[in-house]
Amino acid sequence: MVYAELKKKRKKYNISQTKLAEASGYSKAAISAWELEKNTPSNYELFHLNDVLSSIIKDIDEGVFDIRKKRIRHSKMKNRNLPPPIKNAADYKKRLSLRKSKDTPYSKKLSELYRRALSPKKNNAPKAIALFSGCGGLSLGFASEGFNFVGHIEIEQSANKIYSDNFPESQLLGTDISDISDDDIHKWISEYGNIDILVGGPPCQGFSLAGKRDPKDIRNQLYKYYVHIVSVLQPKVFVMENVRLLTSMKNTDGRLFIDCILESFSKTGYHVIWQETNACDYGVPQSRERIILIGIRKDIKKEFIFPIGTYTNENQTNILFSPKKRLTFRDATSDLQPLESGEISSDPLHWSIVHPEHVITWLKNVPEGCSAHENKDPAMRPPSGFNTTYKRIKWDEPCSTISTNFSMISGCRNVHPVSTRSLTIREAARVQSFPDEFVFSGKWGDIRKAIGNAVPPILAAAIAKSIFKQVFND
Ligand SMILES: C[S@@+](CC[C@H](N)C(=O)[O-])C[C@H]1O[C@@H](n2cnc3c(N)ncnc32)[C@H](O)[C@@H]1O
Repeated sequence: MVYAELKKKRKKYNISQTKLAEASGYSKAAISAWELEKNTPSNYELFHLNDVLSSIIKDIDEGVFDIRKKRIRHSKMKNRNLPPPIKNAADYKKRLSLRKSKDTPYSKKLSELYRRALSPKKNNAPKAIALFSGCGGLSLGFASEGFNFVGHIEIEQSANKIYSDNFPESQLLGTDISDISDDDIHKWISEYGNIDILVGGPPCQGFSLAGKRDPKDIRNQLYKYYVHIVSVLQPKVFVMENVRLLTSMKNTDGRLFIDCILESFSKTGYHVIWQETNACDYGVPQSRERIILIGIRKDIKKEFIFPIGTYTNENQTNILFSPKKRLTFRDATSDLQPLESGEISSDPLHWSIVHPEHVITWLKNVPEGCSAHENKDPAMRPPSGFNTTYKRIKWDEPCSTISTNFSMISGCRNVHPVSTRSLTIREAARVQSFPDEFVFSGKWGDIRKAIGNAVPPILAAAIAKSIFKQVFND
């Protein structure tokens, strides 16, 4: 793919550079430089822009934007009250301290996780490095169980900023993983000593249904850098997370990706077990299906048993654990101020974007769990799309998967159970099990992307706890 194709697409749909910049998180200057061929975007940037453009075009096709007016309706409806972006960690903490809030059992549990993650680590704490660290969802869970992050690698500057604000001790060891050389890895070892564990999930858009599942998608090959770093660094354990669809996707030579990944890790000296997980089974108020691979270096000779999810709605008696009830969207968010389209609250992350009037009309009387596509009156239905779009989530069930576009009302199950608006950033962060204390700053689009991409810290903590107990508890 070359940028010229994206430019053609952007122009065809009258999407301004400003709109593309806003939605993608890249600056308008960067987009303009790519279009004028003064600069070349990386493959990752190209794929990301393509995904963002496709989702804007989907909105246009579904009538959320009015292109006949040659103007995107959203820009006309600019949120009059849009809070200013959060400048830095101090700004976030200040704004958070000014909000009115009350504790719930869930918010207390998240605060406790954050407190544990930030508490000073023991001298003999296992040393960890995060690859594709994002803003640090996976790292937060592991840090809360005693792992000491000495370094991380992440290509997006915005995610790095959030990561560093929350893990100030961790060094940025590199941005593009493909630039890491063996010399770099040996330098890490001489600086930090042996690294005990590597954690990270290569980008999953190339495998997910939201993407095109193109085997040639360069993002599907990024795991090879992960394997290479494991082979040189030889940590005791590694943890890799990815979307469930990875298990059914084939490589260009017709082999299943998962088989290629398992074979590569076996060749580097690791026993790998992998399991499909749903975050709601581990105490996250969200249905989020992912696969988790855990590799144990062969010489460690420890049998590893994957942690069992103990949250279930089935009335089962179990000899292994006492089941707990799954957490719901209500458990995660009911303490937050009720908001309608365009309203803000004292919480810096809890405010709603303004939705177009016609979309509000379609959705106003839609009951929770239903979509505007199910309205009896055809005039009250969106012109096209699936029943999973313009759909309200349910209060008393785990929320549906939080993606990077949770604020798009036309997206999949992004509408609040009773308010007629998409989810706020705070709601998405809570559903992803990020404590309110976790510092977010930067552009709103970047924060949404970081949250949607993350591994829920509560799920990460459950895996970390089990690894600590089975491998590091000597
Ligand atoms: C699925 S997200 C990781 C989320 C993270 N595990 C968490 O829990 O917050 C994948 C990350 O890989 C980053 N990434 C993509 N290509 C990369 C590359 N070539 N080098 C380093 N990081 C990259 C993306 O910017 C993204 O933040």
